[in-house]
Amino acid sequence: MGSETILGLVGSPNREGRTNRLVSAALESAARAGAATELIQMADYVVDACKDCLPWVCHNNLKCTYDDDAFEYLSAKVLECGALVLGTPVYWWDTSGMVKYFILKMFRIYARSAPLRGLPALGIAVAGGSGNGLISGLRPVYHFFQTMHMRALEPLPATRFNLAAALNRASDLGTQLAGMVQQRKPFAGFEERLLWYDSLPYLSLSRADERRLLAGLITTNLPDGADPAIVGGLVQADVLSAEGRGLEALTEVTRVYESGVKAFDGR
Ligand SMILES: Cc1cc2nc3c(=O)[nH]c(=O)nc-3n(C[C@H](O)[C@H](O)[C@H](O)COP(=O)(O)O)c2cc1C
Repeated sequence: MGSETILGLVGSPNREGRTNRLVSAALESAARAGAATELIQMADYVVDACKDCLPWVCHNNLKCTYDDDAFEYLSAKVLECGALVLGTPVYWWDTSGMVKYFILKMFRIYARSAPLRGLPALGIAVAGGSGNGLISGLRPVYHFFQTMHMRALEPLPATRFNLAAALNRASDLGTQLAGMVQQRKPFAGFEERLLWYDSLPYLSLSRADERRLLAGLITTNLPDGADPAIVGGLVQADVLSAEGRGLEALTEVTRVYESGVKAFDGR
């Protein structure tokens, strides 16, 4: 792998799961656009927990003080790649443990020296159960990108309800990454980086807005023959919200969500 390779990390123990499909879709379209790509299953390289050892020498040595072959391997791959796609399943509104452990060691060792400045990056989170946490699962990934000064594209929140659309979006974003891989664009300073990340969609949504987004994803993907009143409920929720009746609006969103899931699952 060289500095022009787009590296895809699949942060799920399920090698053939949705995370794999989404990361692969991004890499495959990048490859069609002429980029070299490599996919790694993080399940094959599960990083140990950072031990918070003192004195804190790893950020000077640029190496974990403890033997951790998985971390050595993964971090070397990330440090030498030309762009990064990091995919995580959503576990309890958060990333998977293997993604979190990797990120935490990267912070501990590299946050100060920031060797990934300007690296193009794409984060994908897939909430394949209830769909809850589709945004909160992305935040740790984008916090990682931001802290490491990477130049991230817009995040890709995926659920089992919008998987087909998310796969298409992953392909589009993969094509975009292919065009960025030759040029790292570091931020001029802290402020530019802060504004860049603040301007990305989804990440600053409230929990209530996240739930509204999820209900919207479900209603736009309802099977044929689903009760049209489900979609009407969402319109009603938005009217209530515009009137400042937040609790009633969110209660309606939940009703839509629950009937939508039932319809989606054919129950
Ligand atoms: C421990 C655990 C926690 C989970 N938490 C959530 C969750 O908060 N929201 C959700 O929609 N799905 C949740 N799921 C379901 C996974 O997101 C879903 O199975 C997803 O497809 C996993 O990605 P994969 O197919 O790449 O393995 C959870 C699964 C596990 C094992």
